[in-house]
Amino acid sequence: MSYLLHLDASGRQNGSTSRAASDAHAKTLAAELGLEIRTRDLSQGLPFVNETMIEGYFTPEDQRTEAHREALQTSDELVEELMKAKALIIGIPVYNFSMPASFKAWADLVARFGVTVIYNEEGRPVGQAPNMPTKVFVAYGGTEIGSKRDFLTPWMTTFLNYIGIQDIEYQPAAED
Ligand SMILES: Cc1cc2nc3c(=O)[nH]c(=O)nc-3n(C[C@H](O)[C@H](O)[C@H](O)COP(=O)(O)O)c2cc1C
Repeated sequence: MSYLLHLDASGRQNGSTSRAASDAHAKTLAAELGLEIRTRDLSQGLPFVNETMIEGYFTPEDQRTEAHREALQTSDELVEELMKAKALIIGIPVYNFSMPASFKAWADLVARFGVTVIYNEEGRPVGQAPNMPTKVFVAYGGTEIGSKRDFLTPWMTTFLNYIGIQDIEYQPAAED
């Protein structure tokens, strides 16, 4: 069945406002759109991009070694999961004026040249992810969405646009 992808990035499970908001809205949106929910908790740990992975990214698929394939396994899985999603809900806190490292790790694993991003003849990136409805629930202490020190939402818009997702809405999760 088609699914809504629900990502969470808060380091805490208990009392997390971004998890509470994203969870409630994932359920509502999935019911509205008739979708199942697939949840991925990014805080549980993702690999950082390393040398073998970068080599693998730039090696044609049929020439990759076993080490490349093994190193790209998580990235391949996350890319497939994103490309098949029909809607996206993200629960994310502001950490040090920006995204938690867990979310950046996910972004570095799903931005794949030749897969989620293809460069056209003019050298411009064309995102290949489906332009699905995307809602981002941002939890913060004092760094409000759109404020001078908010480096999370401008970055997130740039990143999601880059991989092909344009239909993005931000909402504050309840504040501390
Ligand atoms: C490591 C860390 C860094 C944080 N940095 C910021 C910050 O720069 N700006 C801010 O407004 N809140 C900051 N906070 C507060 C969190 O954004 C806030 O507690 C939020 O509710 C956490 O999300 P959660 O409730 O989903 O866990 C920080 C919290 C932690 C744990």
